[in-house]
Amino acid sequence: MARRALHGLPAVIGGTPLIELQHLVPEFRSRLLVKTERFNPGGSIKDRTALAMLLGAIESGDLDPERSVVIESSSGNLGVGLAQICRYFGLRFICVVDAKTTSRNLELLRAYQAEVEVVSRPDEESGEFLPARLRRVRELLAAIPHAYWPNQYANPNNPRAHQQTMREIAQALEDRVDYLFASVGTFGTLRGCAEYIRTHRLGTRIIGVDAVGSVIFDQPPAPRLLPGHGASIRPPLTDASLVDEVVHVSDLEAVVGCRRLLRREAVLAGGSSGAVTAALLGYRDRIPAGSTCVLIYPDGGDRYLDTIFNDAWVTEKFGEVAHLWKDALPPAAATPAAGAQPVG
Ligand SMILES: Cc1ncc(COP(=O)(O)O)c(C=O)c1O
Repeated sequence: MARRALHGLPAVIGGTPLIELQHLVPEFRSRLLVKTERFNPGGSIKDRTALAMLLGAIESGDLDPERSVVIESSSGNLGVGLAQICRYFGLRFICVVDAKTTSRNLELLRAYQAEVEVVSRPDEESGEFLPARLRRVRELLAAIPHAYWPNQYANPNNPRAHQQTMREIAQALEDRVDYLFASVGTFGTLRGCAEYIRTHRLGTRIIGVDAVGSVIFDQPPAPRLLPGHGASIRPPLTDASLVDEVVHVSDLEAVVGCRRLLRREAVLAGGSSGAVTAALLGYRDRIPAGSTCVLIYPDGGDRYLDTIFNDAWVTEKFGEVAHLWKDALPPAAATPAAGAQPVG
């Protein structure tokens, strides 16, 4: 997509800070940097995706800024990102969410003047909300004239947006990126970064971070508590050959990753950031000294104050686990996330 000159709010999407972590793994003899996407104006990496998909659709003529209605299924960050960009362009936006969407996200969507459709019952066959939300999107598309569905799960402008994410990382580090840890949901972030890495022959080893219970890499489905990374349906953008290795991280490991990050680095990061942190901790002994490692942190912990950063919620879900982030680091081999599985 030819990038046109941006003004106003869209002009400040991207260009997020790369923070060097110094205390997370004291004995680590490599550089560790995190790309903090919470500093986008809508609070997550999905600002990039939302902007790229809508600009792409305007440029291709699929979306008419005068009369189109944007409809998307999202329970979180993409919905907020789209609501923000739709408001900027003056577009009507209907966001299909489900009963698991947090009240904070509903408030945010409504503050941006999105119309919110709540799907209250999961799909009968799978027990998951995603198929039920997608069914509702299709019904709305059929019923509303000039409706446009960005469909982040299959839209090529989703990964394309993240070629820019990787360009920013590579340029800041003068193309020296030995390891990239990125979580997977739609596969947009990882795919776009991998495409940039391949095109520019950076030689970066790509570690995909998925949730235990996600089906993206053909693991058996199981209930998951944290939104963001992982999926109950394999996204069409998935390309396992782009990933050198994949690490599956449990909800508890992701929570411990978030809490440890906050304790050691004062970085308030979201669940998938905790997951990539847990993956790095499990993998760290395999990284040769002197390497440069980058972790992508898709959003901030302020969206998880009722869950990951709420002691009562953590105790209810996992029991008394506070010692896991207050103690010394576990040996890498002892963390379940160390069971990295080669893919492809
Ligand atoms: C917090 C968070 N982490 C990770 C992801 C996964 O990113 P992607 O969809 O680009 O694979 C998402 C996607 O919505 C997200 O919101």
